[in-house]
Amino acid sequence: MRYPNGTEALRGLDLEVRAGELVVILGGNGCGKTTLLRSITRAVKPTAGQVWLNGRDLVSLEGEALRSARMDLAMIWQQANLVRRRSVIANIACGALGRNRTWWTALGGLPNAELPAAYEALGQVGLAHLAPQRAGTLSGGQAQRVSIARALMQRPSVLLADEPVASLDPEAATDIMRLLQRLARHDGLAVLCVLHQVDLAFGFADRIVGMRAGRAVFDRPTGGVSSDEVQELYQKRAA
Ligand SMILES: Nc1ncnc2c1ncn2[C@@H]1O[C@H](COP(=O)(O)OP(=O)(O)OP(=O)(O)O)[C@@H](O)[C@H]1O
Ligand SMILES: [Mg+2]
Repeated sequence: MRYPNGTEALRGLDLEVRAGELVVILGGNGCGKTTLLRSITRAVKPTAGQVWLNGRDLVSLEGEALRSARMDLAMIWQQANLVRRRSVIANIACGALGRNRTWWTALGGLPNAELPAAYEALGQVGLAHLAPQRAGTLSGGQAQRVSIARALMQRPSVLLADEPVASLDPEAATDIMRLLQRLARHDGLAVLCVLHQVDLAFGFADRIVGMRAGRAVFDRPTGGVSSDEVQELYQKRAA
């Protein structure tokens, strides 16, 4: 993947994430982690390579075909990006699906047809009791769980997470990782998560991918990864 300014952010990286698996990507700043996730969701169009999802190469799709294929991918970020003045349940019910963004929901209405699914998603992240609360009053950890519930409204088979615990305290971070692990193991999602917390990677990942300068330098079950090779990822040397 080469950006228009000439930066080659990914160089021949090959990665497979299976259903039921939590894969963590580790690597220093600027090694291409976010670019990799954005290439998978087609937020940027890769200049080379393929992204296979359910038997289709997303890179080759455009327009409506791309949009519908992409519904199977959900993404969460460092920030939960909730609408603070609206309730938790409204954020979930209105948030994920483009088809809900009518003038009525924009003015504060709730898409009633989506409410049962929204409550179910909120239950999946363990916060059913917070449904009526204003999103702006949530703690960082709660807000991130709500953003995961919103992502689940898409009924994705793949969940991509870019530093989802970077703004959270250690306990909330552990809770989010436990949740991502459960979504993989129990609900069968393929979860690909970028982290800077090495301990959480070792604690929760089924597989760890170490990235450096746009390449995967290792990709192995967590038990086979040494802390030395992880430390190597962060050592500054000419790439
Ligand atoms: N829109 C863009 N245009 C040009 N270059 C970009 C763009 N976005 C990222 N880059 C460059 O691509 C490389 C990889 O960036 P990327 O954001 O993917 O790294 P990262 O691994 O996510 O880093 P971090 O840990 O800091 O989030 C960097 O050299 C960055 O400067
Ligand atoms: Mg990044």
